[in-house]
Parts: sequence; structure tokens; C-alpha cells
Amino acid sequence: MELNDAVHERRSIRAFLPEQVDRDKLVRMVEVARWAPSWGNTQPWEIVIADGEKAAELTRRLVEEGKKGAFPRTDIEIPLVFPDTHKKRYMELGRDLLTCIGIARDDKDGRLQHYLNMYGFFGAPAVVYFFIDRELSVPYACLDIGSIGTTLCYAAVQEGLGTIYLAASMHFPDIVREVLDVPEEKKLVIGIAVGVPHPDEPASLFRSTREPVERILRFA
Ligand SMILES: Cc1cc2nc3c(=O)[nH]c(=O)nc-3n(C[C@H](O)[C@H](O)[C@H](O)COP(=O)(O)O)c2cc1C
Repeated sequence: MELNDAVHERRSIRAFLPEQVDRDKLVRMVEVARWAPSWGNTQPWEIVIADGEKAAELTRRLVEEGKKGAFPRTDIEIPLVFPDTHKKRYMELGRDLLTCIGIARDDKDGRLQHYLNMYGFFGAPAVVYFFIDRELSVPYACLDIGSIGTTLCYAAVQEGLGTIYLAASMHFPDIVREVLDVPEEKKLVIGIAVGVPHPDEPASLFRSTREPVERILRFA
């Protein structure tokens, strides 16, 4: 598969088929992704994949916590304040996505269910979790996690699979560590849900937009 094709084919998938992902495919994805660049080749990523019963248990626990209305207690700070241009794009994404999947602006229950679906990984049968050692400098190590995470998303396309980075997957790291048997010294950075994209659900077909090159690039 051409790199350009994988880049353009990848999109965040928000509706998956329930079928399990072959573990060989998951291993091949990690085999490719580990060639991502990292600072000083430190390769700070520690990867734990939850599939099968473990993914189901995690879903149950995270949805339960979400239903209680628990506030996220992430290991990595999630930004709450954005510059206006970013906020505008964030709002536009939310509006376009909810319109696409048929949730009206005033449909409170529909919106709540959508958020709970995130804790259920949108039905994905597997989640690839990335941890780093607690003593690492977080912002810098997160560059490396972004590097391998996105490479993994392209490797998934090559395997005929879909992915989505999910902030929701790292809202409650204590639960994730407990279910996946990960020690306290490891910080949870992010989880990427993986599975077979639903062939015709709007949440699986939705496409986000991008700024044109001339808006984001200038030569000095
Ligand atoms: C770090 C990170 C966290 C994300 N968390 C969520 C999430 O919790 N829920 C969600 O629906 N999408 C999440 N996304 C997906 C973004 O919304 C998506 O990447 C963006 O809208 C661009 O769309 P695309 O991935 O389809 O190209 C996340 C993406 C990143 C990089």
C-alpha cells in the first residue's frame, strides 16, 4: 500500500464491527509502528493491548465510571483552555460529527450516550494502550507516543483495520492499570481503539476537515 493512500484512507472510526481482531495483525502493526522515531531513540513506549474479555471488562468498568459522572483523573494533563481558532475547529468537529450521526443539538440523552460510547471504545474489540515510565518528562515523552501511535494507525490501515485515538480511554488510569495489571510507576498516555470499521454506519464513514496548506504553512 502506498503511504499517501494510507494517510488519506485513515480517519477516526467511531463504529466498529464486534468481530475480534486477529492477534497476528495486532503484532504486525506494532512491528511496523516500533520503527517510529523517538527522542535519542529512547523508545519510551510500553504497549499493552486489551482484547477479548479484557477489553470487555475494561469497557464495563469505564462505562460504569462514566455513568457515575466521575471527573477525569488523567495521568497526563488534558488542556481545558484553547486559543479561539482551536476552539472554533473543536466546536465545528463536534457539530459536524453529531449532525452526521443524527444527534440533535438539544438531544441531551443522545449526547450523553455518545460520550458513554467513547468509554465503550465505540464497540472496538481491542485497545492499544501506551504507557511511559513515571519519571520521564511528560510533554517530551508524549511526542514519542504521538509518533508511534500515529504510525500504528497507518499500519492498521494496511491490515484493513480502523482506529481512533481516544482521550476517553485514559480518563481513569487507575481502572486501566488495575484491569491490565500495569504497575503504578507507569503513566497512562493514551489508548487507541482498533477494529474492523462498520461498513455503513455514519460514525464509521464520517470525515473531518483540514485547513488548506496556505493557512498553516509559510516559508521563512
Ligand atoms: C490525542 C487524541 C485524543 C482523541 N480523543 C478522542 C475522543 O476521546 N473521542 C473522539 O471521538 N475522538 C477523539 N480523537 C479523534 C479526533 O477527534 C480526530 O483525530 C480529529 O477529529 C481528526 O479527525 P480524523 O482522525 O478522522 O482525521 C482524539 C484524537 C487524538 C489525537
